[in-house]
Amino acid sequence: MSKVALVTGGSRGIGAAISKALQAAGYTVAANYAGNDDAARAFTEETGIKTYKWSVADYDACAAGIKQVEAELGPIAVLVNNAGITRDSMFHKMTPQQWKEVIDTNLTGLFNMTHPTWAGMRDRKYGRIVNISSINGQKGQAGQANYSAAKAGDLGFTKALAQEGARAGITVNAICPGYIGTEMVRAIDEKVLNERIIPQIPVGRLGEPEEIARCVVFLASDDAGFITGSTISANGGQFFV
Ligand code: CAA
Repeated sequence: MSKVALVTGGSRGIGAAISKALQAAGYTVAANYAGNDDAARAFTEETGIKTYKWSVADYDACAAGIKQVEAELGPIAVLVNNAGITRDSMFHKMTPQQWKEVIDTNLTGLFNMTHPTWAGMRDRKYGRIVNISSINGQKGQAGQANYSAAKAGDLGFTKALAQEGARAGITVNAICPGYIGTEMVRAIDEKVLNERIIPQIPVGRLGEPEEIARCVVFLASDDAGFITGSTISANGGQFFV
């Protein structure tokens, strides 16, 4: 029986590429999404991957959603915490709402998804958790105090949980994508993207979602069993830790 992988935000952007790559690697994939029903329907039609709608910002919804996925597909072996949002604004203009939405989804979302999955992984003595952080959690980004704080928090969460999971056969790792050619990045003002951001990427281009998906497949594999608490930076040379 193939292992079950659950990918949050798994029907669009980097998440869709991750879902497809895990499917191609032989996993039974469940793709969670929060809002875009049309995109989820089209994704299922294209790939055959089942989609499940709930917000990672809601603990009870996560617990119920995970229960449903496990009842339908089997115990979750791989959890990819990919769902994320931006509410970019210079700090002096940032509202408490913009702060809260990003923290609730991009940081608390990891707690909400991982906590209900953890006990089962511990019982089975096997698990792979891959958290999608960001280059901007490593270096900080003007206009993203909320996002940078959440994504840096994701890295602390990863390192703490890696230590707890190690003896239970659970690895917990992070990937920090740089600027990848998804809707999220294309939503940045074109002038800002072309004149301020792309010139800072040494390889001279945006990354491809598949380039992040391949990192996830590796970290999810049995071959990566000795790697835990680590961060893979996939950013075209824009930032070295
Ligand atoms: N450092 C310091 N100051 C900066 C700055 C920077 N990097 N960028 C802009 N500023 C300054 C500007 O020079 C300007 O100063 P003055 O008023 O003195 O001229 C001031 O900040 C305001 O800048 P803007 O005119 O750009 O302000 P705005 O309100 O129109 O837009 C913004 C603000 C929406 C944050 C816009 O600057 C922006 O989109 N920046 C890019 C943010 C970014 O990189 N987001 C990443 C999204 S993708 C993602 O998050 C995925 C991932 O993980 C990588």
